[in-house]
Amino acid sequence: MKVSLFCCSPVVAAAAILFATAVHSPSVHAASGPEVQASGGGAIPIGKLVKIKAPLGLPPVPIPLHNPPTEETIALGRRLYYDPGLSVDGTVSCATCHAPNLGFRDGKALSNGVGGQRGTRKAPTVVNVAYNTLQFWDGRSPSLEKQAEGPMTNPVEMGHTLEGVVKHVQSDPTYRKLFAQAWGTEQITIDLVTKSIASFERTVVIGNSPFDLFYYGGDKKALSRSAQRGLKLFLNRKKGNCSVCHVIGKKYALFTDNKFHNIGVGADTQGNLADAGRYTQTKNASDLGAFKTPTLRNIAETRPYMHDGSQATLKDVVDHYVGGGTSNPHLDKEIHALDFLTFDERADLRAFLESLTGTLPPNVGPPADLSVKIQTAQRQ
Ligand code: HEC
Ligand code: HEC
Repeated sequence: MKVSLFCCSPVVAAAAILFATAVHSPSVHAASGPEVQASGGGAIPIGKLVKIKAPLGLPPVPIPLHNPPTEETIALGRRLYYDPGLSVDGTVSCATCHAPNLGFRDGKALSNGVGGQRGTRKAPTVVNVAYNTLQFWDGRSPSLEKQAEGPMTNPVEMGHTLEGVVKHVQSDPTYRKLFAQAWGTEQITIDLVTKSIASFERTVVIGNSPFDLFYYGGDKKALSRSAQRGLKLFLNRKKGNCSVCHVIGKKYALFTDNKFHNIGVGADTQGNLADAGRYTQTKNASDLGAFKTPTLRNIAETRPYMHDGSQATLKDVVDHYVGGGTSNPHLDKEIHALDFLTFDERADLRAFLESLTGTLPPNVGPPADLSVKIQTAQRQ
């Protein structure tokens, strides 16, 4: 069995376990307004506090106490996110693999990092990552702040060192000015870099889809008949049984339980798994081949599917569930063949998945004043 540690140093993996408890602490309300979670520490931004508006169908955006978003940190994080100067050879930015024109993905099964190198897992979307309790397919990172260090130092992604990233930013007078405005200091640290990027990412929230308008907005015309039937199948425990993991709540829907499941992807006919998934972090046999339940928002825009990008279309995904996944000893107990679904019902499920596309908020694309050429991915 191959154990993948893509996009992460052992230090980050260890931190994921150490800090995991902090992430689960209950939300409290801060004076500034946004939902705040207790975790971490360090510098606090000095600028104008911003309450990130959650669109219809999403709960308030969770905000860590030590990093309340401000106009200045969000704008700075946006610039850093699109800056290929954060990679060792100046060619790869976060947006290379998480591009706004491709649903904050790259349209590929496996991404290309510096020198065209490839990793072993698909780049997930950055849409709604603010709501993840753990980051990465195997949950090895406890926060967006910690997560952002992973790709910078991953040899097949941005291939840099954290010192190298800080040096790039520190040597640029524009960045020095922006850090002074955002953080009250020109002494740039990696902590300030990753906190700024995380605050930008927290603004990339998408709801307000036809499904949200129908289910939470009371607009009965927002969903086609087929998508409405698909929604019923999605919710029905005896039919699709999808929402047991891709959760739809009374007031909002994250389409994830923030847990890890083996749904029979990446197993061969003998039941051998190509990637141990969550097991790499917990060493529990029950986590073998388990991956984080991904959000399904904007799913029609983010093909191919699954942690290894092995399924090209939503039809392939529905067929996967109809077949009950590839059998292996660690398959989740909620996964079983759905071959009783008629072809019309399968099409209804697809129509429902296609109704989850919302619109991007303004100001999440590349900043106009970033002079470098923005490299975003093209669909393969
Ligand atoms: C070369 C491609 C590549 C680059 C560049 C890259 N990422 Fe990723 N990103 C990935 C892949 C692949 C994963 C999944 C890895 C895994 O789970 O093991 C990922 C995972 C993530 C996740 C976790 C999402 C989730 O649902 O768990 C976030 C957040 C993220 N990246 C943000 C960033 C940021 C911020 C940057 C820039 C500092 C960045 N990425 C640069 C490919 C890339
Ligand atoms: C036992 C929990 C569970 C159930 C039940 C479940 N899913 Fe999933 N779903 C997951 C997990 C976990 C993944 C990612 C698996 C992987 O990549 O190995 C996933 C992946 C997906 C994806 C691909 C997402 C992406 O970004 O690549 C789609 C689409 C999807 N599921 C739709 C459905 C539908 C439709 C149903 C019901 C027929 C369903 N799921 C039932 C847990 C579940």
